[in-house]
Amino acid sequence: MAFPTETVYGLGADAFNPIAVARIFEVKNRPEFDPIIVHIADPAQLPDLVREIPDTARRLIEKFWPGPLTLVLPKTARVPDIVTAGLPTVAVRMPAHPVALALIRAAGRPVAAPSANPFGYLSPTTAEHVLAQLDGKVDLILDGGPCPVGVESTVLDLTAGVPTLLRPGGLALEEIEQVVGPVRVATAPSDRPKSPGQLERHYSPRTPLVVFPDRNHPDPAGRRAGLLLLARPSQRPAGFAAVEWLSEAGDLREAAANLFAALHRLDRADLDIIYAQAVPEVGLGRAIMDRLRKAAAGPVDGS
Ligand code: TXA
Ligand code: MG
Repeated sequence: MAFPTETVYGLGADAFNPIAVARIFEVKNRPEFDPIIVHIADPAQLPDLVREIPDTARRLIEKFWPGPLTLVLPKTARVPDIVTAGLPTVAVRMPAHPVALALIRAAGRPVAAPSANPFGYLSPTTAEHVLAQLDGKVDLILDGGPCPVGVESTVLDLTAGVPTLLRPGGLALEEIEQVVGPVRVATAPSDRPKSPGQLERHYSPRTPLVVFPDRNHPDPAGRRAGLLLLARPSQRPAGFAAVEWLSEAGDLREAAANLFAALHRLDRADLDIIYAQAVPEVGLGRAIMDRLRKAAAGPVDGS
């Protein structure tokens, strides 16, 4: 079933039931090497999932849970291999959404859930996005309204010597560094990615997307073009079939919350191309630019 979290909608299954988890892969059309985040409603559920809770994890949990921070830790034998794609680690988070927390409590066990989109496509931030993408494939969609954070959680690996950022997300790197000191930022993906969020092409609309760096947007040049801006322009740019801005005044948190909904709308506007303005890479701007770069690389094969 699909359910809201503060970041994006998730597609959930009993984390201890490998058959239920396999259904998620089926519905998403997701490659098997892809590990899934396990969601809990209380840090007291952690010992069922992870073998040890290092001090850095304790401090981060204290400060940022519930919230958009996923921690990668050594897994217990109870976590099925299908959840972790055979990795010896498991990614865990406690979401800050009342509906997600109520669902996990009602389930009485941890809920494994990726974002509720077909593999490689834009993540859903409304129940209506889920319905449009997965209608007929899911039994139930819990509608909790639009997701307030709007980009996926930040994924932090705590199993190496230094905390390592695997995916920028809804919690800013700067905030994490205030608690644990310098964080290593993982770079180029390997053949077998630790985190599919690290794939170069991901989170993509079907319409080709180009990121432009300046205040001066490209010329649509006779094409049916869409324009995605950070802030409301003083004048409506001429020649575009669709113009969207992520935040009235260019606030990055507000922009992150609106990003996927704006991309969904543009992707449905029957455009030849989408021009997206680059945003400053500070705070949530890091997650926004990460998603825009991946969207620019085009849809993933077969999705
Ligand atoms: O905000 C979110 O994180 C949303 C909501 C539903 O919680 N979920 C989400 O899940 O974005 P998904 O499956 O779309 O992305 C999970 C990310 C992937 O990049 C995956 O590779 C990484 O977490 N991940 C999961 N388990 C991992 C592990 N054991 N080691 C490294 N990365 C892992
Ligand atoms: Mg996803």
